[in-house]
Amino acid sequence: MNTDNPGKHFVFADSRQIEKVVADLAASIQRDYLGKKPLVIGVLKGSFIFLADLVRKLDTEVEIDFIGLSSYGRGQISCGTVSLYFEPKIEVAGKDVILVEDIVDSGLSTNFAINYLRQRGAGSVKLCALLDKQACRTVDINIDYVGLIAPEGFLVGYGLDCNESYRNLRDIIILSEE
Ligand code: IMP
Ligand code: MG
Repeated sequence: MNTDNPGKHFVFADSRQIEKVVADLAASIQRDYLGKKPLVIGVLKGSFIFLADLVRKLDTEVEIDFIGLSSYGRGQISCGTVSLYFEPKIEVAGKDVILVEDIVDSGLSTNFAINYLRQRGAGSVKLCALLDKQACRTVDINIDYVGLIAPEGFLVGYGLDCNESYRNLRDIIILSEE
């Protein structure tokens, strides 16, 4: 399939809409972290584009790191077990951490990441997710900063993949089932 045109698809959010959503999220974060220097931790790999745009809209000092989690094998079905393949290198203890997720689906990965950060002694942990797929939630997760409520269906683009394809699409697209 062509990266610019993944078959039959429906654009859920185009790049202009995404930019506005990200700007609003950054404004809220900026208000809440005035005078602080939060540690922004992106969940790899899906959050990398969102995080890059978000932090460039923050007019405040930040530290940036990543955590690598995998819960999906191949394709669109979560296997339900979360594994950690990359730990943040920056000291987390005592820091005001903002965990950045592309999408919260079952909530298992996010739950894992929040527990991990608390165990490492984070001073505070808040969650910023671009997309909230509420219909698929199996663990109760409080999202402090949420961009858009995701529809059912599998989303790709703007960092989100299907079998590692489509992360570089500028829009967020719902993949058709064919
Ligand atoms: P969860 O643990 O079920 O909440 O899944 C979280 C991770 O699964 C997200 O960070 C994404 O990487 C991936 N994921 C969940 N839903 C989608 C989707 O619709 N498109 C692409 N990736 C998804
Ligand atoms: Mg992810």
